[in-house]
Amino acid sequence: MSKTITFHDYQPQIQSLKSAVIAGLSKADKAIPPKYFYDQRGSELFSEICEQPEYYPPTVERAILRNNSEEISELTGTDRLVLEPGAGSATKIRLLLEPLQPSAYLPMDISCEYLRYSAAEIVDDFPWLPVHAVCVDFTHSIPLPEAAPKRHKLAFFPGSSIGNFTPKEACHFLDMVRETIKPGGMLLIGVDTKKSTDILNAAYNDAAGMTAAFNLNLLHRIRDEAEADCDPENFEHQAFYNQERGRIEMHLISRCRQTLHLNGNEFLLEKGESIHTENSYKYSPEEFIALASQAGLHLVKHWLDEEALFAVYLLKS
Ligand code: AVI
Repeated sequence: MSKTITFHDYQPQIQSLKSAVIAGLSKADKAIPPKYFYDQRGSELFSEICEQPEYYPPTVERAILRNNSEEISELTGTDRLVLEPGAGSATKIRLLLEPLQPSAYLPMDISCEYLRYSAAEIVDDFPWLPVHAVCVDFTHSIPLPEAAPKRHKLAFFPGSSIGNFTPKEACHFLDMVRETIKPGGMLLIGVDTKKSTDILNAAYNDAAGMTAAFNLNLLHRIRDEAEADCDPENFEHQAFYNQERGRIEMHLISRCRQTLHLNGNEFLLEKGESIHTENSYKYSPEEFIALASQAGLHLVKHWLDEEALFAVYLLKS
């Protein structure tokens, strides 16, 4: 069987960590965007988080996809061009490739190196599948290479990554997906649900301390790569569900009054002051279906696990 992999490099530009930290610490409410979590160590720690019993989303989403893959493929039909923005290690799509029988698979990721590796693993395991690996910052654009087959599209966006956008950004992203997939296109998306605060708080405060290590790793990057004189020991991890805003918030809390020096700038942090590092919005099915329809994407069907911990939506443009 032929194995085909084509690489398309759109040369994504990411604002340097140093300038993002300077911009983020200059704000009245200090904040650094979550995309800076994902260096090599951060990606490894995120994989560890996904193994923790308290962090239910990966296990529950996988079960939903596995249990409903036949129905999903009946609703989408086969022979689609399947694209996956932010594909990362591209593990969940594996549950769907046999039933979906795509005409080609397009994993998209900002990390070209990671993408080459995960695309090569896909062609090894699915040698019949043409793969077009697209290196791009999908939050800015979702380009479809000319060389990819011209078929109806199916975008796949699992893992509740949509929750790391604000609702306004999420709507903008969904709109961009709709424009990319064109009429006849579909989106299969995994979204975390609203649920008891205890379950949510435990998911982001796992007993093994993996989420804390993931959050604190940002300070190691700030010290080692952005060359700030910051001591990670002087901060602690905080994560809690903000009921009013319907989101988990992650913060790094300063344990003492301290000044960080970075590139000629001085940033004073009071004891207890926070650097806000991530939001993870949770949506009830009604809320998410309404958000998607604002972006012109309409529900075909959605699936939840028995405890309604997580939801997968099939939407069409
Ligand atoms: C990647 N993203 C969907 C995860 C989430 O749940 O928001 C990131 C994460 N942060 C802490 N734990 C997991």
